[in-house]
Amino acid sequence: MHLTSLSALFATTLFAFASVSDAVLPGTWPPLDQAPPMKPEWAKLVNKKKLPKAPVQTAQAANCSQAVQFCIWSCNACTRSESDVTACPNDKEWGISYDDGPSPYTPALLDFLNQTNTKVTFAVVGSRVVERPEVLQRIRDEGHEIVVHTWSHPALTTISTEQIIAEIKWTELAIQTAIGLTPKYLRPPRGDYDDRVRSIATQLGYKILMWDRDTFDWKSAEDSSYQPSWIWGNFSQWVTDSHGHISLEHDLYPVGAQNAPYAISIVREAGYTIKPVSVCTGTAAYRENVQLAASGPLPADVTLPDPPAPSPTDSTSGSGPESTSSTNDTSANAQSTSDSYASSVSPQFSRLGPFIILTISIAFSVYNIRNIIIG
Ligand SMILES: *[C@@H]1O[C@H](CO)[C@@H](O)[C@H](O)[C@H]1NC(C)=O
Ligand SMILES: *[C@@H]1O[C@H](CO)[C@@H](O)[C@H](O)[C@H]1NC(C)=O
Ligand SMILES: *[C@@H]1O[C@H](CO)[C@@H](O)[C@H](O)[C@H]1NC(C)=O
Ligand SMILES: *[C@@H]1O[C@H](CO)[C@@H](O)[C@H](O)[C@H]1NC(C)=O
Ligand SMILES: [Zn+2]
Repeated sequence: MHLTSLSALFATTLFAFASVSDAVLPGTWPPLDQAPPMKPEWAKLVNKKKLPKAPVQTAQAANCSQAVQFCIWSCNACTRSESDVTACPNDKEWGISYDDGPSPYTPALLDFLNQTNTKVTFAVVGSRVVERPEVLQRIRDEGHEIVVHTWSHPALTTISTEQIIAEIKWTELAIQTAIGLTPKYLRPPRGDYDDRVRSIATQLGYKILMWDRDTFDWKSAEDSSYQPSWIWGNFSQWVTDSHGHISLEHDLYPVGAQNAPYAISIVREAGYTIKPVSVCTGTAAYRENVQLAASGPLPADVTLPDPPAPSPTDSTSGSGPESTSSTNDTSANAQSTSDSYASSVSPQFSRLGPFIILTISIAFSVYNIRNIIIG
């Protein structure tokens, strides 16, 4: 083996250790991406007698026979204005939101937001916070809003009241431990919620954060025919009505995270002010006294990136300004689904060439050891 190969091997091994043994959140945490256990002291936070008797749904298909009675969003997009936020109320104001991180793709997105003085909202999964608390700290430090998006990303209408409480409270505890703040908004995974979920959330001190514009960018992870251009194509149409909106994207997947800057360009260039959702709704982001701010002006030396022009030969062009290998990133991530987070450490290994097997085996042993240590 040549010396250069050896040093490449050494660098690769170091990279594997560095990327999985980044800051780990102090404390003892339930297994990641699984239904977490209930703590007895959390049960008394919710008065079960007050809960609407909406049936616990089966995972396969929602029973929508009582959709109106229990305001089941998955059946008819039902929302209730007392508890739910779906759009920024004022014209020309936009709440950009990213779900399911922090991921390996979040830091590059944060760089762009920082350079362009743009303030957004991140709906974070507790299991990802345990993996990347330093990214959550950066999100807070750079003035973005943080919202609870559960521990293991279940469809909330399909699980018991105890399980819902545990999903919310473990995520809340992980966020508090990482950044010392307690969010006041909950985003239900897949927008699956009803009056029982609303009442549990309300009793735990949360409002529900929904959206009124959906990119469906998560489909890029499981559907190779997904076109990144749909993200900016959709935004270009949405900005034309000048109304206030809240949009949904995902920073867990490379296509969503890497194309997010184009959406920011379109919204800003249409004359919208991008605001964290608590800022555009004039509500509190956290139980603690923290005031977030709207996006500021674009720095004089910064230009917003234009979406790539359509190319007749390559319909999947346009992987985002930070990306050099979208096609390969996309295929690496195609093994995971929108509901499977266990493999979220693997996409960053996809560019490591001939040492990928070695890298992955080292990564998995570190990952397993770490899981044993943190319980
Ligand atoms: C749906 O719910 C209604 C009311 O609870 C019940 O009568 C009906 O049997 C359910 N349907 C299915 C397919 O489970
Ligand atoms: C960008 O990040 C730096 C370093 O964290 C910070 O000092 C600065 O305030 C940030 N700027 C914006 C506009 O968020
Ligand atoms: C908007 O996104 C959908 C998929 O979510 C896609 O079918 C449609 O073509 C997109 N519209 C534009 C103008 O890109
Ligand atoms: C993608 O991977 C293929 C081999 O699988 C390689 O030939 C190609 O150069 C890669 N493309 C980029 C942009 O990295
Ligand atoms: Zn989600």
